[in-house]
Amino acid sequence: MSVERLSTGVSGIDSILRGGIPKGFTVAVVGEPGTGKTVFSLHFMNAGLVNGEKGIYVTTEESRASIIRQASTLGMDFLQAVNRGDLVIIDALMGEKGDAWSLRELDVDELVNTVIEAKKYLGHGHTRLVIDSMSAFWLDKPAMARKYSYQVKRVLSKWDFTTVLTSQYAVTTSLGFGFGVEHVADGIIRFRKRIIGGYLKRFVVVEKMRQTDHDKRVFEIDIVDGKGMVVVGPYTLAREDFALPLSVLRKMVEAEVRKNLELYGGELEEE
Ligand SMILES: Nc1ncnc2c1ncn2[C@@H]1O[C@H](COP(=O)(O)OP(=O)(O)OP(=O)(O)O)[C@@H](O)[C@H]1O
Ligand SMILES: [Mg+2]
Repeated sequence: MSVERLSTGVSGIDSILRGGIPKGFTVAVVGEPGTGKTVFSLHFMNAGLVNGEKGIYVTTEESRASIIRQASTLGMDFLQAVNRGDLVIIDALMGEKGDAWSLRELDVDELVNTVIEAKKYLGHGHTRLVIDSMSAFWLDKPAMARKYSYQVKRVLSKWDFTTVLTSQYAVTTSLGFGFGVEHVADGIIRFRKRIIGGYLKRFVVVEKMRQTDHDKRVFEIDIVDGKGMVVVGPYTLAREDFALPLSVLRKMVEAEVRKNLELYGGELEEE
């Protein structure tokens, strides 16, 4: 049986997914701060908009204006889509009075109700939904992560959505953020970052995608001004990425041996 797939807006990631995200899926997009979750979410939204689809983008970490600005640096016109009535950006940060599309607080019930209101406003038909980020809803109560994620998926599954839920992890406190989204998701796309040779590199790996084959390799990505996310190619961990140069390693071992000899006696044989 062939599944209908939606382009993510990043052609390299569509290839990894053998064509895109199966329609109707809820996909978790996870990773540390600054790895590209928001940029990817903007691509996913924009791919729908340019295809004549409707979209709802919930932003918890950046204001609506900031999202529109970020999109425009990647060559995407979100303001026009809002004005056309094709896109609703729900802002959970500003809590602006009198703005129908602002959340007053980071409350999951309010989130779900506002998303449904936005869906009714946009009208019938399939809609792309991004919630960036879900983890904002359980920052002070990580134990609720799974319950909240399940609630969002269950209620929204009655509506015609394909959904991206982002979740953020701090390197040192990943447990504290809760692993809610991954459990309920039909797919997991994980973004990573790493300093290699004094240069910040970013990676993506698809960890799960139900009902479809996908590439299991880690791919290096780049974010380019005016263009956005591009897949550079598959990445194989080179030994130099984690090993110290041999000469440095030898010096460290020698120093350690010397220290022990001084403590416990004996002689270090020279070559
Ligand atoms: N116009 C641009 N040109 C080049 N690089 C950009 C551009 N816009 C964003 N970036 C890169 O993308 C990074 C931000 O990625 P993004 O906002 O998607 O991260 P994130 O995973 O959503 O982080 P957080 O968890 O903090 O929200 C920036 O640090 C920058 O390196
Ligand atoms: Mg972000």
